[in-house]
Amino acid sequence: MAERLLGIETSCDETSAAVLRIEGGRPVLESLVILSQDVHRVFGGVVPELASREHLRTIGPVTDRALAEAGVELGQLDGLAVTAGPGLVGALLVGLMYAKGLSFGLGKPYLGVHHLEGHLFAPTLEDLELAPPFVALLVSGGHTLLLDVEGWGRYRLLGQTLDDAAGEAFDKVGTLLGLEYPAGAEIERLAREGKPGRFRLPRSMLHTLDQAGDQRFAFSFSGLKTAVLRAVKASTDVARDRPDLARDFQDAVIEVLVEKTARATEELGRTVAVLGGGVACNRALADALRERLQGIARVAVASPRLNTDNAAMIAAAGAWRLARGERSGMDLEPFDSGPLPGMVLG
Ligand code: KG4
Ligand code: ZN
Repeated sequence: MAERLLGIETSCDETSAAVLRIEGGRPVLESLVILSQDVHRVFGGVVPELASREHLRTIGPVTDRALAEAGVELGQLDGLAVTAGPGLVGALLVGLMYAKGLSFGLGKPYLGVHHLEGHLFAPTLEDLELAPPFVALLVSGGHTLLLDVEGWGRYRLLGQTLDDAAGEAFDKVGTLLGLEYPAGAEIERLAREGKPGRFRLPRSMLHTLDQAGDQRFAFSFSGLKTAVLRAVKASTDVARDRPDLARDFQDAVIEVLVEKTARATEELGRTVAVLGGGVACNRALADALRERLQGIARVAVASPRLNTDNAAMIAAAGAWRLARGERSGMDLEPFDSGPLPGMVLG
């Protein structure tokens, strides 16, 4: 039986809705609308109160547009999936209340989805062969997690960041270099013009891989950010040095992410490694991981539109849980942090 779901995502600064049909167990994306909030640019970061107001203003039109693009009426939906957390609580609340209202009004079930489980499901929308087990590196503006995905819903946490998330590091370094927020894509562009190796930036926590203990697959990016700050202060011409700084910073981040992901993949004997989250849009990262894992494992990465925050990935994760009979109640509240459902510590 075909199932048709409406997905909704409002955890940060993207208002997104998608219609996803599951046909013979396979996802068919019927529409995806992503509206990125512009208001935050001038503030150099997301302002939670403004994000909530923007979601409130646009959630209706964005959903209507997703339904119209799919050629679907509300009555043709079989259920809804919505991000319940982690994220900005006021922003999440808008999408969650909207989904609850539709669920109640239509008499159709809904499910609150963990945002990171959405990122994990994103590549399955394009890569129909992709299935666990695999190792996954989730790198976004808020999280950096290395997981062993034993099965859907069975996640073993191998390591995470002890301070800044990888995307956060890109954005903070972007601010140091005088770039607009979010800076990930611009740093990647600048890095292509930069000469490598001029600045000796630290490969933070790379050495823990060869030490026994629970920090082997942990990450840390705040020291790297401070090293960039020092280099910027010491520079006599930041505009001239910007591409080289971007290059060395990106190389430092990529080296640690790639080596830890590759070692986990090898040690666990996995034949697939998944890259997910906004930072997975970085081509240099995906290329470096592919090169490192050549002959060992296949690297699966979604296209950029599905890697940054979007409702299609939320619908994909929700579809799997709804199909197992899971349902959320009207008492579900948004949450700002919390582990993936089914996650155990490595
Ligand atoms: O997953 P996402 O859209 O939102 C969160 O859940 O956080 O990730 C956004 C993050 C931002 O920090 C942004 O700078 C980063 O992803 N990003 C990139 C690139 N494109 C987006 N980082 C590095 N290289 C990119 N090409
Ligand atoms: Zn995200």
